Amino acid sequence: MQWQEYVDEVLVTKEALQTRIAELGAQISQDYQGQDLLLVCVLKGGVMFLTDLMRQISIPHAIDFMAVSSYGTGVRDSTGIVRILMDLGADIRERNVLIVEDIIDTGHTLDYILRLLRTRNPASLRICCLLDKSSRREVPIGVDYVGFTIPDEFVFGYGLDLDELYRDLPLVATLKPELYDQFIEQETD
Ligand code: PRP
Repeated sequence: MQWQEYVDEVLVTKEALQTRIAELGAQISQDYQGQDLLLVCVLKGGVMFLTDLMRQISIPHAIDFMAVSSYGTGVRDSTGIVRILMDLGADIRERNVLIVEDIIDTGHTLDYILRLLRTRNPASLRICCLLDKSSRREVPIGVDYVGFTIPDEFVFGYGLDLDELYRDLPLVATLKPELYDQFIEQETD
């Protein structure tokens, strides 16, 4: 099946993504002007956003990666349980850390990451998130930079996967409702 056959609608076009990412990059460049900056990308979903965002940041900055997992393959709803799969390489003490995420949903993942990274005494710790499903929030999270606030729909593309595929798409699309059963396992408790 071609990826187009999974698409209900294109929620955020390639052009809209790139325009907004340029705005975010300009804002971040201004806010951190003259300061140290370390972008921390949360894998895997954040990788497309990171690579485009860093090309729009005009001040010197470093990057690092961490991987956490809250969902199993095919499981949409967060359990609230977060596992750390890969930790940062960098020591973040006294550094200005900006977390780069693709999507915030319930907030459990970022809540966990924030609590973990705060214990390492960074100079500052902020969040830049491309997509915010704010209506789904279970834990309050202050997001410093938001790309787009989106409705509670199953989205894929631009870092977000359909069972690990289609992260490479340059746009964000919603999944056809008739295909939900194929990709979404509801929590069974
Ligand atoms: C997604 C996303 C966030 C998290 C958000 O990652 O990248 O890390 O879920 O959900 P929450 O706010 O409900 O915690 P996912 O676990 O799907 O991993 P992936 O990025 O490797 O696809």
